[in-house]
Amino acid sequence: MKKNLIALFGGLLFAGALISCGGGAGETKSKAMTADLANGEAVYNKSCIACHMTGVAGAAALTDKARWEENAAKGMSVLLEDAMKGYTGKYGVMPEKGTCTDCTEQDMYDAISFMLDKAGVEAAE
Ligand code: HEC
Repeated sequence: MKKNLIALFGGLLFAGALISCGGGAGETKSKAMTADLANGEAVYNKSCIACHMTGVAGAAALTDKARWEENAAKGMSVLLEDAMKGYTGKYGVMPEKGTCTDCTEQDMYDAISFMLDKAGVEAAE
């Protein structure tokens, strides 16, 4: 019996170590996210391009480095939250999820990363 308990405890420790090395599956903070730029481009082409290509309705155009630098200064987690929930700033209205209602948080993260990348800007977390 005692032996079994020890084995069980050892097993739990081992499982715990595996989970903690797993890289935070289910974590929703941008810190734990890695950008998939190809997916970001697909999402951008589907939903963001309408406003963000040339800067329609006050959106930052893809080539407008200064505007993306201004955005990037807020940090990626703020940009992600604003894109998910929608955001009204001094330039205009960014609709919730950029009108991509079936997009996930990861899709938004990828699309934002793609636009920052195209503008040649890097955002802090
Ligand atoms: C209907 C037009 C429109 C569409 C479509 C759109 N955006 Fe926007 N977006 C805006 C406008 C306008 C702003 C600028 C708001 C401001 O700063 O005043 C903005 C700002 C942003 C910002 C900066 C937010 C901040 O905190 O300053 C991000 C990030 C963003 N958009 C991401 C996206 C993504 C990703 C998509 C596609 C999934 C998308 N947008 C689609 C209009 C749009």
